[in-house]
Amino acid sequence: MAPRWSPDSWRTKPIGQVPLYLDEVELGQVEKQLARFPPLVFAGEARELTAKLARVASGEAFLLQGGDCAESFAEHGADTIRDFFRVFLQMAVVLTYAGGSPVVKLGRIAGQFAKPRSSATEKQGGQELPSYRGDIINGIEFTEAARRADPQRMLMAYRQSAATLNLLRAFAQGGYANLEHVHRWNLGFVKDSPAGHRYEDMAEDLAETLRFMRAIGLTPDNTPQLRSTSFYTSHEALLLGYEQSMTRIDSTSGDWYATSGHFLWIGDRTRQLDHGHIEYLRGIKNPIGVKCGPSLDTDELLRLIDLLNPQNEPGRLTLISRFGAEKVGKHLPQLIRAVEREGKSVVWTCDPMHGNTIKAGNGYKTRPFDLILSEVEAFFDIHRSEGTHAGGIHVEMTGQNVTECVGGAKAVTETDLSDRYHTHCDPRLNADQSLELAFIVAERLKRDLAGRPEPEISIAAGE
Ligand code: PEP
Ligand code: CO
Repeated sequence: MAPRWSPDSWRTKPIGQVPLYLDEVELGQVEKQLARFPPLVFAGEARELTAKLARVASGEAFLLQGGDCAESFAEHGADTIRDFFRVFLQMAVVLTYAGGSPVVKLGRIAGQFAKPRSSATEKQGGQELPSYRGDIINGIEFTEAARRADPQRMLMAYRQSAATLNLLRAFAQGGYANLEHVHRWNLGFVKDSPAGHRYEDMAEDLAETLRFMRAIGLTPDNTPQLRSTSFYTSHEALLLGYEQSMTRIDSTSGDWYATSGHFLWIGDRTRQLDHGHIEYLRGIKNPIGVKCGPSLDTDELLRLIDLLNPQNEPGRLTLISRFGAEKVGKHLPQLIRAVEREGKSVVWTCDPMHGNTIKAGNGYKTRPFDLILSEVEAFFDIHRSEGTHAGGIHVEMTGQNVTECVGGAKAVTETDLSDRYHTHCDPRLNADQSLELAFIVAERLKRDLAGRPEPEISIAAGE
């Protein structure tokens, strides 16, 4: 029997990556206030997402998870959200088409504010200040005032999440996700990209399919699946005081759910078995993820799986591998084998960002597009040879034309980095790089699909 769990049982455990709040009374007041605010998501939606992820676990669907490394208060605006959502939908459409299976759309958005840091302090010149830990905790400016952990920021993050989610729900259901529009945007990308000729055939095949559907009378006007979509939100469950305040009992099932987002994950730095983050995550019913980096061995992974998914419920647990292009071949196969040997149901997805971060000659933190591709390719190769399902990708991306990751068909060079380097934390793929990655993964899905026997046709609603 697992020990009793409650939304605050994590407080009795050791914990890393916690900010130092100078005013504990104010912190408590803010947490109480948050606990009275309406939930951002509803338990039924989280259950629906678990069911969809169960299909990913069994190889019948693909997971696309992406968004900012860190959302920021300063960049909160309709255009940023719209541009992200547009690119994300474009990616999802090519992946759905090429893979011939549903794509679960999961944003790193509407709550992705708290950041783990490798060092508690930062030095600039002769001055040492607390590190920036994300807008939900402190400010990015290098001043004493900005770097002080401020509980009021949690209220701001809640309100920003609510407003962001509101717009995303409107876009997803209100006509913006119309498949014919998304397809038209993709044609624009193919036309403008220097590597576009490579993707022309796929875009033309999709155009033909849409023409055929129209010919037999399936149009966005009469077919809801062609004009709307389901979209879910996710973030790292790092700031547990905030998460605790947003944890509520679902009256239908009597279970506890995190209501700050549909899906929460544990970062690579906070997944110690006996620590607070694992304790919190094990008790909520939402689908959850764990980042798996090079320091995770097979025994530890199996113990994590037992703690986090003791009933072996399909769709409950997503393992997000992030080893880096160089290391993935050494680490991933043994983890996959252990999971298979023990008969555990998991979603395997690839975060090709966090293991491929380098410092450019001019000091900017960046990620070479080629390394990102190469980790993704290796992830697919490994799953193919292990006979398991390469279930998805997890990327840091934006719909803006930033210059943060080097490479891509419209190559961003090291000298370009200073032009539009806007991220508050890690470097993100820009719109073109994101789409390029999606088309390359789509090609791969198509190739793998061609090698599989024809499945029985089943039409899933509302993907
Ligand atoms: C992140 O996803 O932004 C992150 C910090 O990842 P990881 O825990 O894998 O380093
Ligand atoms: Co990051």
